[in-house]
Amino acid sequence: MDIRSLIKEEVLAQKAYGVEHAACPVKLDANENPLAIPGPLRKRFVSRLASVSLNRYPEAGSPALTARFAKVFGVGGDQVVLGNGSDELIQILCTAVARPGAEVMIPIPTFAMYRITAQNTGCRVAAVPLDGEFDLDLAAMRERIAAHPPALTFLAWPNNPTGNCFRRDRIEAVLRESPGIVVVDEAYFHFSGQTFLPLLGRYENLVILRTLSKAGFAAMRIGFLIGPPALVHELDKVRLPYNLNALSQAAAGFYLDHEETFLKQAEKIRRWRGELFAAMKKIPGIHPRPTDANFIFFGCDFDADRVYSRLMERGILIKNFNAPGAMQNFMRVTVGTREENSRFIGELQDILSK
Ligand SMILES: Cc1ncc(COP(=O)(O)O)c(C=O)c1O
Repeated sequence: MDIRSLIKEEVLAQKAYGVEHAACPVKLDANENPLAIPGPLRKRFVSRLASVSLNRYPEAGSPALTARFAKVFGVGGDQVVLGNGSDELIQILCTAVARPGAEVMIPIPTFAMYRITAQNTGCRVAAVPLDGEFDLDLAAMRERIAAHPPALTFLAWPNNPTGNCFRRDRIEAVLRESPGIVVVDEAYFHFSGQTFLPLLGRYENLVILRTLSKAGFAAMRIGFLIGPPALVHELDKVRLPYNLNALSQAAAGFYLDHEETFLKQAEKIRRWRGELFAAMKKIPGIHPRPTDANFIFFGCDFDADRVYSRLMERGILIKNFNAPGAMQNFMRVTVGTREENSRFIGELQDILSK
């Protein structure tokens, strides 16, 4: 028998999310925080994890933790869902709206998991290309909304991989004009400092996503959805009861207890981002785009595939987006430590000089 015949077409047609497994000592491909938990805190973190009862199920729905984070976000406990990374929350949203024919609208390029998850859950994807400045093409989105109102729209803010925050007035126009849920994914909030949280009261269809992944806890998979209580109530029926494991719950509590430390790390990364941007700007043929995130999207006047592989041979992993059309010779580099950034710059200059 052909086991594939049992799998639905949407899954057969997919490519799995691409993660490069090359063992590069300088890892600047996944928009992670390059800094570990500082030494003294690390010991406390380990003893916090050691106190978790592994023989028990985690606290279902993590109400105490949810209430703590709700306070930080300035909303009610009935407005927050915790997820196994924001990836899981994207999946919960798609699952909840996936009636036959339901459409998910995304700009392109954007975070790959929106399309993958929408297709896997049986939604149709309406992909609307960004304009020449990598901002939302409002006219094209309006057309799409009028032709087939999307049940769900995902807007990463700042956008991944382009790094910019879309214009607020354009996002608000989508919020006003789309009858569906509009998700503003603030995964890079720690580096943009900008948020739609205060607008939750104004738009009933606004949902916000946050994560601790970019702030230093990528391995622990902790994400947040913030939205209207009526929606949270329904999403809670889709969420698996023990979706956030007990170690991740402990880690999330630990993050809040020591948030100051991680906010300081983010501040450092923002400083290093400025230095990296300035250094890239000085390299002839390298064109970094303005960024509000912890990565820099850049075009180059050379063959990006060659530059990418040469960097990898020298132990530096970045992300290559090179494809015919608007993404021709575009790549993305995550802001690393000062040492990693200067190694990247040095090797890039050397490769381009040959
Ligand atoms: C825009 C955006 N949203 C969500 C995520 C995933 O975050 P998490 O690690 O919380 O699943 C990413 C990760 O790169 C991202 O770029």
